[in-house]
Amino acid sequence: MQIFDSFNPPARLLMGPGPSNAAPSVLSALANPLLGHLDPAFIQMMEEIKSMLRSVFQTKNQMTFPVSGTGSAGMEFCFVNLIEPGDEVIVCINGVFGMRMADLAERCGANVIKVEAPWGEIIRPEQVKEAVTGRSPKLVALVHAETSTGALTPVESISEIAHGAGALMLLDTVTSLGGCKVDIDGWNIDAVYSGTQKCLSCPPGLAPVSLSPRALETAQNRKTRVQSWYLDVNMLSGYWGSERVYHHTAPISMNYALHEALRLILEEGLETRWERHQQTHLRLVEGLKTLGLGIASQQGHQLWQLNAVTVPEGTDEAGVRKRLLEEYQIEVGAGLGPMKGKIWRVGLMGESSQAKYVDHFLEAMTAILKGS
Ligand SMILES: Cc1ncc(COP(=O)(O)O)c(C=O)c1O
Repeated sequence: MQIFDSFNPPARLLMGPGPSNAAPSVLSALANPLLGHLDPAFIQMMEEIKSMLRSVFQTKNQMTFPVSGTGSAGMEFCFVNLIEPGDEVIVCINGVFGMRMADLAERCGANVIKVEAPWGEIIRPEQVKEAVTGRSPKLVALVHAETSTGALTPVESISEIAHGAGALMLLDTVTSLGGCKVDIDGWNIDAVYSGTQKCLSCPPGLAPVSLSPRALETAQNRKTRVQSWYLDVNMLSGYWGSERVYHHTAPISMNYALHEALRLILEEGLETRWERHQQTHLRLVEGLKTLGLGIASQQGHQLWQLNAVTVPEGTDEAGVRKRLLEEYQIEVGAGLGPMKGKIWRVGLMGESSQAKYVDHFLEAMTAILKGS
C-alpha cells in the first residue's frame, strides 16, 4: 500500500467560470472546530445564515436556506418539489444550464416546452409570451446569468408574463447572486437556487435556495410524493425550520464558510459589491481592446462576472490557457458547446473580481499573445 504525502494545492488565481478565490477569513472558517449539527450554537448559526441569505436574495421568504450539495442540487431541489408528472413546463434555453434544466424537468415527467435563443444572446420576453399563449404552464424556468455564454437575461418582464399565465417563476442565480442585482421579491420569483463558489466566493458545496409561499404551498399540496427523499422540502423544512428534526447531517464546516462569506458580502454592501463587479469588467473590456480582443456575448447584456473573451483566428486556444496556468498561475475557462474553441471564459467573481487581478491577467495575455 502506498502512503501519499499530504496534499498541498498550488496557489492559483481563479479567473474561470468558478470556483472563484475565497477570502482568507472564509478559508479559516473551514478550519474551526466541528460542532454537532443539532448543537444550539450551530442552530443559532443556521438562523443567521438564513437571515443573511434573505438579505442577499432580497426576499422575505421564510423558506430560504442552503441545500447540502452544489448548485445542481439547488436546481434539482426546485424542480423535484414543484413538478409532477404531466405538468407543462416552459424552459428557456440559451446555453448549457438552460439545457440542464430542460433535461431535469423531463426527468420529473414534465411536458417541456423549450424557448430557445442562440448561445450568447438573451431570452426575449416576446418569446416567452408566445410560448405561454394558449397554454397553462405550471412553471417558467430561466437562467439569469448563463455561465456558458456570458449573457445576462433581464428577468422582470419574463416573470410578469409567467405570472400572467398563472405559472410559477423559477430562476437560476448560480452565477448572478452576489455579483449583480438579484431581487427575488421585487421580481416576484417563486423558486430560486444558487451556488456558493461563484460570486459568493465560498468553496463549492452548498446551494442557497428560496421558495415563495406560493411555491411552498405547491410543494405541500402535491398529488404525488416528491421523488427525491434527500431534497423533499416537506422533510427538509423540519430540519431547517423551527422543529429541528434530524434529516441529514449538515456539512458543518461548509456552513461556517458560508456564514463568513455572507457576512463579508453584507459588510461590503450589495450595491457596492455589484458596482465593484461592473468596474472590474469595464477595466477588462478596455484592456482587451488594446489586445484586439472583444466580448462575444450580446452587446448590452454582457455579464460582469463572466466574460466570454473572443479567441483570435489562428490562436491555439487551449495552449494559451495552459500557459496562463503553468507560467502565471491563472485559471480561465474554455468555451462550451458551439462556443468551444471560440472563447475563453474569464471569471471576475467575488474575491477574484479585483483591478489588480485584471491587470495581472492582461499583462500575462499580452506576453503570451505577442510571443505566440
Ligand atoms: C448557471 C449555472 N447553473 C448551474 C450550475 C451548476 O452548479 P454546480 O456546478 O455547483 O453544481 C452552474 C455551474 O457552473 C452554473 O453556472
